[in-house]
Amino acid sequence: MRRDMSRPAPKSFHVKSFGCQMNAYDGTRMAELLEAGGMQAADSAEAADLIVLNTCHIREKAAEKVYSDIGRIVKKARGRQQPMIAVAGCVAQAEGAEIPRRAPAVDIVVGPQAYHNLPQLVADAVAGKPALDTDMPVASKFDALPKRRRQGASAFLTVQEGCDKFCTYCVVPYTRGAEVSRPWGAIVDEAKALVDAGAREITLLGQNVNAWTGADDRGCMQGLDGLIRALDALPGLARIRYMTSHPNDMTDGLIAAHGDVAKLMPFLHLPVQAGSDRILKAMNRSHDAASYLRLIERVRAVRPDIAISGDFIVGFPGETDADFEDTLTVVRAVGHAMAFSFKYSPRPGTPAATMADQVAPQIMDERLQRLQALLNEQQHGFNLATVGKRCGVLIERDGKRAGQRIGKSPWLQSVIVEDGPAIGELVTVDIVAAGPNSMTGTIVAEQRAA
Ligand code: 5AD
Ligand code: SF4
Repeated sequence: MRRDMSRPAPKSFHVKSFGCQMNAYDGTRMAELLEAGGMQAADSAEAADLIVLNTCHIREKAAEKVYSDIGRIVKKARGRQQPMIAVAGCVAQAEGAEIPRRAPAVDIVVGPQAYHNLPQLVADAVAGKPALDTDMPVASKFDALPKRRRQGASAFLTVQEGCDKFCTYCVVPYTRGAEVSRPWGAIVDEAKALVDAGAREITLLGQNVNAWTGADDRGCMQGLDGLIRALDALPGLARIRYMTSHPNDMTDGLIAAHGDVAKLMPFLHLPVQAGSDRILKAMNRSHDAASYLRLIERVRAVRPDIAISGDFIVGFPGETDADFEDTLTVVRAVGHAMAFSFKYSPRPGTPAATMADQVAPQIMDERLQRLQALLNEQQHGFNLATVGKRCGVLIERDGKRAGQRIGKSPWLQSVIVEDGPAIGELVTVDIVAAGPNSMTGTIVAEQRAA
């Protein structure tokens, strides 16, 4: 961190977010905050006076990326004024003052619970003062953020942050802190503001989103299902989604909502992580393979077409070939519409990092390949099974060719359509073809819905 050296105040900024959707949400909010303070969004990182790297710490590869990015920024700036660099997000929280020690080009370090202070930190950096804030204040940062504006068709809304589950491999409880639910009123107000700003779909976000609880406007305690039902009544909002959920917080009420809330989309991201009960126990997951499968059955009983998504870790310490086969067995039993799978990455400070029997990298590689081959096959199979269905598609962006648009099906598949519907339009589409990663649809002319 360069100190005792004042520098010009930045006029433009660029926020680059890595990792999960919660980081994407934070990135948008930081951009809104900087704009509200009079700075302009630059078209690219190269054109910005301030670059915010909104980082992810979940796996080593993600965490190390920030340092290669800083190196690239410094190299590109050679010979001219180097942009101000802010490191935000979970690496900032986990590594704090270590970051400017390792990368002296960094001017600002700001954790995920403190980014409402970013304008002050920028002013400190301009004045040549140290600018580091990784506090987890009691007062919510959300109250200090400007109102939502300018939305695409689909918007994120963070309703819950942090995690108390302490899975033994995971840094989230340390970087994002304890589970905190935002208040009902603040969420409903933000949802209304998002709809007023053009959003037709809202995805409620949280590290453990289905652990959300709060008192409604009449003082009654509600769970996530209550919140979803309240948003269902919001005029102008067409679709509701939520992620990421923990199996243990999948309440009867939330399952029931999948059966009777019209705007709640048939998609559930419910990570199981592994299929061996021994490994699940060592992971401190507090569910086993059988209870997970029963849960999926109960959700499918109320919403048979629901798309199931998940996260998987291969090569957790002590995972044997037989344990890994148990993972494949669970995957086959579930049938996924999509999934994310990762090699186990030891994270500093987590219990699993010091467990015996760390799995060799080449074994992890081989297991990951086998798992991903199966998951890809399932995803393609799910996509093929959608061909012939008629469904709503929410148009989100332009496609490659003139008139082509890309939107999302209820099951979160990307659907390509022609005839140039407007972004934000919810069109009825016949799905006519499926690829591994996207679908093709034709708009049902007489059913073009606003
Ligand atoms: N190594 C590999 N994957 C991890 N995840 C969390 N921690 C680790 C780790 N140490 C995965 C989990 C989680 C997803 C967001 O990232 O599958 O659900
Ligand atoms: Fe990490 Fe487990 Fe919490 Fe998910 S539930 S954020 S994997 S500790």
